[in-house]
Amino acid sequence: MLLKLFKNKVKLTKVQIRACCSSVQGEPKGPSVKTPIPGPNSKKLHAELHKIQYAGTIQLFINYLKSIGNYLVDVDGNVILDTFSQISAAPLGYNHPELLKVFKNDDNLRRLVNRPALGLFPGDDYPEKVKNIFSQISPCLPKIYLMMCGACSNENAFKHLFLAYQRKKRGNKPFTEEEKTSALLNKPPGCPNLTILSFHNAFLGRTFACLAATHSKFIQKVDLPSIDWPAAHFPKYKYPLEENKRENEEEDRKCLAEVEDLMQKYEKKGTPVAGVAVEPLQSEAGNYEASPEFFQQLQKIVKKNNAYLLFDEVQTGGGASGKFWFHEHFDLETPPDVITFSKKMQLGGYFHSEELTPDVPYRIFNTWMGDPGKLMLLEVIIEVMRKQNLLDTVQKTGKKLKCGLHELESEFSNLINSVRGVGTLLAFDAKDENMRSEFSKKLLNKGVLVGNCGSKGIRFRPALTFEESHVDIFLDKFREVLKEINK
Ligand SMILES: Cc1ncc(COP(=O)(O)O)c(C=O)c1O
Repeated sequence: MLLKLFKNKVKLTKVQIRACCSSVQGEPKGPSVKTPIPGPNSKKLHAELHKIQYAGTIQLFINYLKSIGNYLVDVDGNVILDTFSQISAAPLGYNHPELLKVFKNDDNLRRLVNRPALGLFPGDDYPEKVKNIFSQISPCLPKIYLMMCGACSNENAFKHLFLAYQRKKRGNKPFTEEEKTSALLNKPPGCPNLTILSFHNAFLGRTFACLAATHSKFIQKVDLPSIDWPAAHFPKYKYPLEENKRENEEEDRKCLAEVEDLMQKYEKKGTPVAGVAVEPLQSEAGNYEASPEFFQQLQKIVKKNNAYLLFDEVQTGGGASGKFWFHEHFDLETPPDVITFSKKMQLGGYFHSEELTPDVPYRIFNTWMGDPGKLMLLEVIIEVMRKQNLLDTVQKTGKKLKCGLHELESEFSNLINSVRGVGTLLAFDAKDENMRSEFSKKLLNKGVLVGNCGSKGIRFRPALTFEESHVDIFLDKFREVLKEINK
């Protein structure tokens, strides 16, 4: 049916002809736009929904039955090349045939329908399934906990760090009576004054503890009570990196000195830092990267201060950097203590070191503790990634996209700058916020969806199946936009 949908297309343009080599089964040859976007059907649904649910963030309504591969089909019939893939959460694009097969299997369907409370009554296939997935993607950490979303994973991982920190301090002795009673009143010593150090501009999620470690936009925080947790500056590099090496190394040193300073200051205040939480690439903040040396030194400082290091790989994990985990680019002495994930992994969770394993039940727990349905999908996603060498695809695609953006950056230096990132986790800045918004709108109306980041950045978060032919389409469309604006 989908093939039929795209059969009666108009004459192929230059871009479409080049795009013919996309290997994604059933994909159209390129975007096609029938109405202004959002179109009338999207607007109608928006108004309808808004009557019962605040719809202020909703951009478009999508027909997920017709969307395919790297293309969204909206409810007005517009076919849109998706470079944002559900905020980086659709690793194989839309309606991947291998994923569609999963629930055609009756056993899988029954496992999906009878959703268990995995912390209490997992199914007979659960240990094997977790072991299979774990053995293929574990970032050299021996244990895993499954959760639901990114914030839920970070929130529980913070708890995990605190529990281990206190267990070590207590010397594995049982809780005192005072600890037990004071904990019920939110008071020390039961609820100790411990902190997590995070970084300016970080985004770690929107639950309360995550928000205390999030510093990207005021709109996420104002009016909500928070905790006095320290935040150091994350390096902000000058681009191009090769021409600003010395200044950027100095930036690393400054930020690391601040981390050490804050850790000592909070120790003296009686609120020691139990953990340092960091994104390997600050995504929401603007796709800001830091050098491997920065992260190597950070790990040393964290260890020296007897704290734990948590990498938030919610947005960066799952292959889009060209390695399965972004921090694999850093060549760290030892793995970090905790790595949280979600998005491309379909469910949340974290890997952790042996030392962090809880010693009594119900310290970390919730009803679902993951989702067997999503685990089934993840197992297939990993298999497809391996069979189709999707990490190689990401490396090639990322390189081509970055080169193309650099070319546009030198041709239209008055409009765009600071191309940055790794793999397909790329971004650039528009001259200002208004221009960023003009870029996004014009691109969308040419059938290309991009994401925002920071105050004036455009961010790429395509599926792992985004190929060089898709890059050609994006670059041609974006060049058209830049020329129109530059007239
Ligand atoms: C780095 C990072 N951490 C945490 C989160 C929160 O994830 P979720 O929205 O699933 O709660 C996000 C979401 O974008 C993220 O990018």
